[in-house]
Amino acid sequence: MKDIKVLAIETSCDETAAAVVQNGRTVLSNIISTQIDLHKKYGGVVPEIASRMHVEKINLVIEEALKEAKLTLDEIDVIGVTYGPGLVGALLVGVVAAKAIAFAKDKPLVGVHHIEGHIAANYISHQELEPPFLCLVVSGGHTHLVYVKDYTTYEIMGKTRDDAAGEAYDKVARAIGLTYPGGPKVDRLAKEGNKEAIKFPRAMLDAGYDFSFSGVKSAVLNYVNACNMKGETINTKDVAAAFQSSVVDVLVSKTMSLAKEKNIQTIALAGGVAANNGLREEMTKAAQKNRMKLYYPELILCTDNAAMIGCAAYYDYMKGNRAQMNLNAVPNLPLGKK
Ligand code: KG4
Ligand code: ZN
Repeated sequence: MKDIKVLAIETSCDETAAAVVQNGRTVLSNIISTQIDLHKKYGGVVPEIASRMHVEKINLVIEEALKEAKLTLDEIDVIGVTYGPGLVGALLVGVVAAKAIAFAKDKPLVGVHHIEGHIAANYISHQELEPPFLCLVVSGGHTHLVYVKDYTTYEIMGKTRDDAAGEAYDKVARAIGLTYPGGPKVDRLAKEGNKEAIKFPRAMLDAGYDFSFSGVKSAVLNYVNACNMKGETINTKDVAAAFQSSVVDVLVSKTMSLAKEKNIQTIALAGGVAANNGLREEMTKAAQKNRMKLYYPELILCTDNAAMIGCAAYYDYMKGNRAQMNLNAVPNLPLGKK
């Protein structure tokens, strides 16, 4: 069978990314131009700045991805692009670029859901992984428990009712004086802290499969404010460790009880927070204890990138899914609806 080479584009938030992926699982190039330094001084992503930077970088990033893959546009078979969810102005830059290439070169166009991409990152890191499995998607914008029935069929089993896990990380990080994105920094501090030193709440929401992280976030902010008012110095390592433990406990226990209830033996993690050491360790222990297989992507594929979009686009393409020239950015695109 002929090799299928996908040129994939991802611009849903603050990373301008392009990649070439062959047959879904072989990454020929994976270029990521991050805007983190630009957004840092505002404490989070500023949508208008993100869109402008995507416009500036997109062509360069695409050229670099083709160059590194040693391919010309004519040798590409499919164009894949994230069209939601995300920041509308940011998404539009990628969608317009993808449509322009698909139109000019007469190539099929495939629209990819961003979360579908995060899940697919696991297929690149683990060549043997196949659906069905249960995936915990934890990123800056999403916290979902997704049953991956097959390569293009997803069922949402639980999701956050307020803040996403990564969002809570970033807000807590800011409160203890760390710059955006705070998740990795909290993770590093947590390693050196005592998680028993402070008790933050664990929102179990009557043991259903939805999540809520605004309670623990507020508890940390209140704790920090109270310390400041009393003039006490804050042990940021202990705060990080206690906060992380409270988030990780909830993520692990809900994932495990859902897997047990549904008799699912294979679990995957996805999204930026899947890079978290505490989450990886605790989920590994729990999976071993319950004799389940656990997968998570290599670090570079946890946070936003276009290789994961190329992988998801390949499976969508094989299924026959095609986008037309009226493809638009959909900021709140639901998962699993084509
Ligand atoms: O998947 P991603 O790049 O973007 C979204 O789709 O939202 O995830 C970014 C999020 C940020 O909130 C960042 O703080 C968090 O992932 N993150 C982490 C770690 N690495 C990234 N959170 C906790 N621990 C980490 N090691
Ligand atoms: Zn993402």
